[in-house]
Amino acid sequence: MSSFLSSSIGKKLIMSLSGLFLVLFILVHLILNSFLMFDSTGELFNAGAHFMAMPVIRFGLQPVLFAGFIIHIIYAIILTLQNQKARPQKYATQSLGNSSTWSSRNMFVLGGLVLVFIAMHLMHFFVPIQIQGNVQDDYQLVKGLFTNGSMGLVYTGLYVVGAILLGLHLAHGFWSAFQSIGMSNNIWRARLEKAGYFYAIFVAAGFTIIPLYLHFFA
Ligand code: HEM
Repeated sequence: MSSFLSSSIGKKLIMSLSGLFLVLFILVHLILNSFLMFDSTGELFNAGAHFMAMPVIRFGLQPVLFAGFIIHIIYAIILTLQNQKARPQKYATQSLGNSSTWSSRNMFVLGGLVLVFIAMHLMHFFVPIQIQGNVQDDYQLVKGLFTNGSMGLVYTGLYVVGAILLGLHLAHGFWSAFQSIGMSNNIWRARLEKAGYFYAIFVAAGFTIIPLYLHFFA
């Protein structure tokens, strides 16, 4: 078992399963964040936030979520280094491959940029809400970030860029993860590729619309 997990296929499998777990988290996170647009009193969003702050979720699911992120990042680094070693003439090989997409060739860079975005994002909301514990109204905290002064527009722009980077990462990551768990015949490849694009556009559009809505209309 341990030799399987340290093999190339085993590492790809871990990478894929952790990625699919994050795909699910992102969808739930987007649905809960959409509450920001449906109720300008903030009650709906705060009710969702309080539900997510229940001890069973906070102490049960959150460590699993952070472990999922860390495993995904560590294995991304290991697999990228391994691929680079196996393929020293990277540029020559890339120019020959006409079936790979821009996203697929830049997964590591895109993932790194998404990580920078997430680090900034955690400082905005997770740290004050969960670490410092000094937030009375989560809705006002989120709305404030996108509306306060000239920085409101800057943060709106940064979140839009973050959403687009995440969408590009998911455009390849979604179906690639399914491919790694064995669903790679031609029929499923085409279906999953379409589903991946749909999911990526849905997520990028959702996370783009929310800050824009809060900045311009809330
Ligand atoms: C419109 C954009 C977004 C808004 C308004 C938003 C809002 C929030 C809020 C309020 C929290 C703190 C929740 C709490 O601790 O009670 C949070 C946490 C978090 N967000 Fe976001 N988020 C956005 C986009 C994203 C994106 C694109 C990602 C990337 C995958 C992301 C990943 C996370 C993670 C990992 C956490 C920490 C875990 C958690 O507390 O659930 N968020 N977000």
